Amino acid sequence: MSNLNFNKMAAGVLCGGLLLMGGVKLGAILIPHQKLAENPYPFEVAESAGAGQSTPSAPAEVEPITPLLATADIAAGQAQSRKCTACHTFDKGGANRVGPNLYNIVNRGFALNPDFKYSKAMAEHGGSWTYDELNHFLFKPKARISGTKMNFAGLKKTKDRANIIAWMRTLADNPAPLP
Ligand code: HEC
Repeated sequence: MSNLNFNKMAAGVLCGGLLLMGGVKLGAILIPHQKLAENPYPFEVAESAGAGQSTPSAPAEVEPITPLLATADIAAGQAQSRKCTACHTFDKGGANRVGPNLYNIVNRGFALNPDFKYSKAMAEHGGSWTYDELNHFLFKPKARISGTKMNFAGLKKTKDRANIIAWMRTLADNPAPLP
């Protein structure tokens, strides 16, 4: 970067700072002090009264599935998989569709299907599909792995995720141990 550019940038930052300071001072002059002592945001109290309820902007909590896995309904899990089969096969040696074949996915590393072209986000993610990872991903794929090309809204019901993950676990030569 040339010196001139640097100077311009420095001047910009300085001006920004001065404007900010000016703004704060001006605000202090315009709003008398006693007024500030009152609650300038009367609605704040009403809003925080709703604490405990989640607001739409709050990050969604993904409920753990671990307590449900041992008693999960495998058949119900298989039924859930109809939401996936437009894009995935689950049988051993099954073809890749829009998404990769998912036989033996539990505890396997991310993006290991050699014949499937994964997104960069998925290919470079690292780690493996633990129960916990699958639980978070299937809740809301794009929130868990930003940049994934799996266009699926997610399974919002904890029971549904537990059931389908328990079913996917059975689709392996040596099913992964339950957590
Ligand atoms: C609209 C198509 C589509 C649907 C529906 C879909 N997926 Fe996917 N899925 C994909 C694509 C595409 C990828 C590859 C993502 C990437 O590379 O970013 C993927 C990747 C995955 C992976 C990672 C595989 C690996 O080898 O690392 C898992 C696990 C997965 N999907 C599970 C599911 C499950 C379970 C469902 C149903 C509840 C489902 N998907 C529904 C398209 C879909």
